[in-house]
Amino acid sequence: MGDLLKEKSTWEEFFDAHAPVYEDNVFTKNTIREVDFLIEELSLPPGGSILDIGCGTGRHSIELAKRGYSVTGLDLSSEMLARAAASAKAAGVNVNWIRSDATHFSLPERYDGAICLCEGAFGLLGQKDDPIGQPLSILSNISRSLKPEAKAVLTVLNGAAMLRRSTNDDVSEGRFDPLTMVWSSEHPPREGLPPVPIRERAFMPTELILLFRLAGLSVLNLWGGTAGNWGKRTLDLDEIEIMIVARKTAEPSDAGEFDFVPEVIPAPTDVYVELKLAGSWHDI
Ligand SMILES: C[S@@+](CC[C@H](N)C(=O)[O-])C[C@H]1O[C@@H](n2cnc3c(N)ncnc32)[C@H](O)[C@@H]1O
Repeated sequence: MGDLLKEKSTWEEFFDAHAPVYEDNVFTKNTIREVDFLIEELSLPPGGSILDIGCGTGRHSIELAKRGYSVTGLDLSSEMLARAAASAKAAGVNVNWIRSDATHFSLPERYDGAICLCEGAFGLLGQKDDPIGQPLSILSNISRSLKPEAKAVLTVLNGAAMLRRSTNDDVSEGRFDPLTMVWSSEHPPREGLPPVPIRERAFMPTELILLFRLAGLSVLNLWGGTAGNWGKRTLDLDEIEIMIVARKTAEPSDAGEFDFVPEVIPAPTDVYVELKLAGSWHDI
């Protein structure tokens, strides 16, 4: 694992610097009700074990631990984890914190449930991550960590909303790639810091069902699951996030090793410029 974590990914860089202000985000303010919801959906046995992937500052992990569950929180960012550990200590609960990349982990224990919330790694692509391989390897790792029939709850970016927000200029100027559903942008992790380049992947419900199936997880429900506003409601086109509830029904398939690298085709404007330089486009 050491080698994998030597070079900071841009998301690690982003969240290490964002950690001090993460819990100022309005979408983090509904944790207690979210945990009520999770306990109901995950059908956990009393005192059962839960794995929280991309646990961040540990808000769900700590609340679950307060309610008597045995919780492991895994995250890439040491600064997010440092805050999580300090909050757990202040709350007087024990959580097992692990620093790892969600795309490359394997744990000895099998859990009664798993959560991966607010894009806890899922769809937060590194600059070189494959848009199919990254989410599939996370799902496969989650699946391998679960007991048979155990459930998982994830919230991920909604592809329909991303499409509705995007324009053809976003495509031709390289911000949005409709082949992979990836938004590339640059954001300062907090006020006064230079921007960090980031890539975010959104998903369509049907591909989620397929990806989950490849990982041995059967999707039970797909709901609107925008952070801070969860509910068992039909997904609409503007909902920022999709909530997926799934059950482990098989082991992950070997299709876990994906490498989708779309061929680079020059944007139409480039072609147009080239043609103009070569002569009048009327000549073609
Ligand atoms: C938006 S925060 C969500 C935190 C938490 N789940 C919540 O709901 O508040 C995303 C978290 O995912 C973590 N993360 C991003 N990429 C990751 C990866 N490849 N492996 C593990 N954690 C990752 C970040 O460090 C960050 O803490």
